[in-house]
This record gives sequence, C-alpha cells and structure tokens, in this order.
Amino acid sequence: MTSSSVVDSSVDVGPVAEIVAAHAPFAEADIIGSLQDLQERYGYLPQPALDELARLSGLPVAKFYGVATFYAQFHLQPHGKHTVRVCRGTACHVRGAPGVMDSVTRQLGVAGGETTPDMLFSLETVACLGTCFLSPVMLVDNKYYGNLTREKAVKILEVLAASHTGKGAAN
Ligand code: FES
Repeated sequence: MTSSSVVDSSVDVGPVAEIVAAHAPFAEADIIGSLQDLQERYGYLPQPALDELARLSGLPVAKFYGVATFYAQFHLQPHGKHTVRVCRGTACHVRGAPGVMDSVTRQLGVAGGETTPDMLFSLETVACLGTCFLSPVMLVDNKYYGNLTREKAVKILEVLAASHTGKGAAN
C-alpha cells in the first residue's frame, strides 16, 4: 500500500497554506481551529488537504485524524449542505421515530449515513439528541424539530429543499 503517496488531484490544496498561516505559530492547540477552517473551505476534510495541513504545520497527520474522528462536527467524506439527524433513542422510538425515519429516508432517497446526490442533505441517526421531551425529534443543522409526525418531517425537508430552488419556500 502506498496510500500516503496517493494524492487526489481533484482537491486543490493551495488554500491550506493560508489556513496554516492564519494560525502561525502553529501549535497543537490550533488543530481544532485549523480543522474547522479547513472544513469551512472544502465542506469536509479531504485527505490531501489534511496531509498538506500536517506537512505545513509540522505536526503528525495522526494528530489531525485523531481530532477529526473524535468530534462529530468533522466530516472526512463529502457532506451535504444540511445535516439531518433523526433520533432513534428509546423515548423517540416508542413515540414514532421509526415511522419518521422511514418517511425521511423516502423523502431524501438515502439511508442513514448517506448524502443525497445533489449534496443538499446528509442523513444520520443518533442514539439520543438530549431532548426526549420533544420526542420524536430530529435535528436539522442546529435546529430541533419535535413532536414529529411523518408528515411534519417531510414538510420540513420539502421547505428546506425549496429554499434552495427558490420554489415555494414558504416558512
Ligand atoms: S431519545 Fe430521542 S431525544 Fe432522547
């Protein structure tokens, strides 16, 4: 295996130098901030950009991967513009989460852990969103939607999708 020498030429690592420069003098305390900057720039953390970040910062690439895999906010694969997290915890489960998840997967056409082909939505399931009193609940980006029904969940996604096409984006 020569994975460390394989470079995805479709990723322009040029902007990484700016990110490292913005954190100079680069120290371990800058790892999270630099990863946030990297993700903001690329939408996720492409491997070639991570390798370049490690090279220019002088820190082992394993440290960057360690942080990137520890925090849920970081994505190592291309990620949708919106993150939809449907709770599958017990409180939500008994109040209809399986039906909500079924409707959401049908609406988006992807399963949990997948991203829609238009890169608009990434769908995830979580063990508990910490808002059981709202069950069943889903979190879309930073906004919680509680007391969901199948219909409400679909409507939320329809409105959000429409806001990107300019069609019927009623609030
Ligand atoms: S079980 Fe769903 S929010 Fe806690």
